[in-house]
Amino acid sequence: MRLTIIGTGYVGLVTGACFAECGHQVTCVDCDAAKVALLRGGGMPIYEPGLEELVRQNAAAGRLYFTESTKEGVERSDIIFIAVPTPPLPDGSVDLSFMEGVSRDIASHMTSYKIVVDKSTVPVKTGEKVAETIKRYCPAKVEFDVVSNPEFLREGFAVEDFMRPDRVVIGTLSARPVAAMKELYEPFDAPIIVTDINSAELIKHAANSFLALKISYINAISAICEASGANVEEVANGIGMDARIGRRFLNAGLGFGGSCFPKDLSAFIRIAEQLGVPFDLLKEVQRINARQMDRFVKKIADTLWVLKGKKIGVLGLAFKQNTDDVRSSPAIELCRRLLLEGAVLRVHDPKAMDKARPILPEAVFVEDMNAVAEGCDALVVATEWPEFKQLDLERARKALSHPILFDGRNLFDPRELEQLGFIYKSVGR
Ligand SMILES: NC(=O)c1ccc[n+]([C@@H]2O[C@H](COP(=O)([O-])OP(=O)(O)OC[C@H]3O[C@@H](n4cnc5c(N)ncnc54)[C@H](O)[C@@H]3O)[C@@H](O)[C@H]2O)c1
Repeated sequence: MRLTIIGTGYVGLVTGACFAECGHQVTCVDCDAAKVALLRGGGMPIYEPGLEELVRQNAAAGRLYFTESTKEGVERSDIIFIAVPTPPLPDGSVDLSFMEGVSRDIASHMTSYKIVVDKSTVPVKTGEKVAETIKRYCPAKVEFDVVSNPEFLREGFAVEDFMRPDRVVIGTLSARPVAAMKELYEPFDAPIIVTDINSAELIKHAANSFLALKISYINAISAICEASGANVEEVANGIGMDARIGRRFLNAGLGFGGSCFPKDLSAFIRIAEQLGVPFDLLKEVQRINARQMDRFVKKIADTLWVLKGKKIGVLGLAFKQNTDDVRSSPAIELCRRLLLEGAVLRVHDPKAMDKARPILPEAVFVEDMNAVAEGCDALVVATEWPEFKQLDLERARKALSHPILFDGRNLFDPRELEQLGFIYKSVGR
């Protein structure tokens, strides 16, 4: 099939590369000229395991093509995916101007039947608006269908998740595009849910809010564990073995961040309010998340007393492991809070240093994770990169002026660290 993806970011590029890998002819459109030039020249704008290889191979095979022109994208394909940003507005609601702009742009170039598929995360009823907009702005007045096909991939595991999804959701206003959508997803061997467009859109916000809720739940438990002397990992294992609950997303830490959970949660709260059905439970999820960071910063300040002038090593800047994405990263938030208190930072991340440099110009960026602790008063783990488990702890202990380690991701075993002579503080244990 001939496919176009408008928006070549984390979702768009992965979608394009994976569909090309299935043998389709894919055109990736992006308005960022520098990004298109980089991709055309064989470069990669983002880090995602396995993605570079897929992009290179499929571009070389002529199945993956990059352009700045939406017109070209619309002309080249019958199925057009929208994967543009849906960022938050100051009141938490969703900025749909990118969606609206792209819908008009697509409409103005349509001269034959198209399936327009929304992959961006949007409020319920957006598909109806997209359909209205395309109808209004299409001079050729051709037929088209709008489909909601929310994306559930996780950054850091995006290719794997796209190729092996738990389920595929197809929400449509009509039956006509269903066969093509099913054919497209058939190679992934996943359950396909065909539903109405409003339910499809709601599924995405309901899913992300539930996952955020699960993280806040265990983080709230972690505070109770700290107050009572229990161990949050034991509790998570104990409740997670209940098949109705499940162990995933029950890892206490610094709280959730990234470009999706915080914004989707705020959006869902606003959507519910606008529909006249306030969803206060989700406001508590936000409060718990904010409190979790406060508690961790307080733990550092209580231990080190005055932070002004203290040298602190921070391991991890990305919002989670396996990604270079620092958007709304709790690790960056933690760095900012420490800098605000006057601390001096030495920081390291396996993949996110380039993206973090302009955000934290005051910090010293250290290439070798084992050199971060040199001359520091304490070391902090802020992102759950598995390679941090390989840290040379003996060297870190000697390099620190006093061996204090704050583990915001519970990466290390408290007993082991204490045996090595560390003052070790983690979350909920
Ligand atoms: N990142 C994730 O893990 C993830 C997962 C599921 C869903 N989503 C949703 O997918 C959508 C995209 O997210 P993302 O993380 O890929 O964003 P992103 O910022 O990485 O990429 C968006 C791309 O769209 C381009 N763009 C913006 N306006 C455009 C236009 N008018 N024409 C062409 N290109 C345009 C930007 O230049 C950018 O390259 C959002 O709604 C997000 O909530 C993201």
